[in-house]
Amino acid sequence: MRSAEDLQVKGKRVLVRSDLNVPLENGVITDDGRIRASLPLLRSLVEQGGRVVVTAHLGRPKGTPDPAYSLAPVARRLEELLGRPVRLARDVVGPDAQSSVEDLREGGVVLLENVRFEAAETSKDDAERGAFADQLAAFADLYVDDAFGAVHRKHASVYDVAQRLPHAAGPLVTAEVEVLERLEKDPDRPYVVVLGGSKVSDKIKVIEALLPQVDALLVGGGMCFTFLKAQGHGIGSSLLEDELLDQCRSLLDSGKVVLPVDVVAATSFSADADHEVVPADAIPDDRMGLDIGPVSVRLFAARLEGAKTVFWNGPMGVFEMAPFAAGTRGVAEAVAALDALTVVGGGDSAAAVRALGIDESRFTHISTGGGASLEHLEGKVLPGLAVLDD
Ligand code: 3PG
Repeated sequence: MRSAEDLQVKGKRVLVRSDLNVPLENGVITDDGRIRASLPLLRSLVEQGGRVVVTAHLGRPKGTPDPAYSLAPVARRLEELLGRPVRLARDVVGPDAQSSVEDLREGGVVLLENVRFEAAETSKDDAERGAFADQLAAFADLYVDDAFGAVHRKHASVYDVAQRLPHAAGPLVTAEVEVLERLEKDPDRPYVVVLGGSKVSDKIKVIEALLPQVDALLVGGGMCFTFLKAQGHGIGSSLLEDELLDQCRSLLDSGKVVLPVDVVAATSFSADADHEVVPADAIPDDRMGLDIGPVSVRLFAARLEGAKTVFWNGPMGVFEMAPFAAGTRGVAEAVAALDALTVVGGGDSAAAVRALGIDESRFTHISTGGGASLEHLEGKVLPGLAVLDD
């Protein structure tokens, strides 16, 4: 892949695809990690006198403008962090976008409105996506993809536009891919993976791909209950994906899957619900597990000790609610304390590290891409990377 550093950008219009898909609560950004991660490329382009047109998505609007998904809060935060004006176009390829791009001076930055306001962005129809990509490409002389979190999407702004312009990978994409390749190609051992998050179905493929590679796979989060049920335990009203029980049983046969031995069980999914620590094989019928328990944290920490390579994706419990945050905090601390290559796979686990106030520099790498890093580890061809590869 050509790197953005190899491009001559002075005076050129550069279309940058960034992943600025940050969590919002009542219009307020709760974790700006992805905006920060996009800064090095944008800074470098403006400093070199590029005319920068940024395109990005926020959430999953239905292919039509929706103020709830406007990039306005992101534009404001980006402007603050960049220390330069960022003009938000009121549309994606419409008249306001066109005049904003025409007005761009050297070192200027325009952010196009949420690219998913255009249905063609995510269309399965190649021609439809292509026609939209033509419009995006008309804004620029060069294209740089730095949206690692979106490289697994065959979307117009990620895939098709790269076929229409001289293109390069941004520094974030390059750094993310390098780290994942270190995990995939002959990792130092022991190699331990920690997976959490709510659904086994989201992770089953990556578990299947990783099990032959790893020395141990520690499973927490909502997904551990389907495994516990597969072992024959009652799990009360905890999350369950019945249709995956057989698959979980065969994964358990590998002997590498380590499950929690205690859990924090609550009467309902609420921060003020009555809760207690119970053995993982005796969750009362009227309770749901919302975090791994303290003995499990110690067990997981013991399994992590001495590891030389660690990949962690997914919180161990509902860390957003204080009574169910200790499991995620404990595992994060255990990973952070290691003298190893430690990679936190994006999305919720990256947000958890920041929300729990754990120093990010204690990890080797915190990925910005949840789904993208998992699909890379699964060994899938990611369209947004394949198209950059000349
Ligand atoms: C993410 O949040 O993982 C990326 O921004 C991709 O978003 P998507 O899953 O809505 O395509």
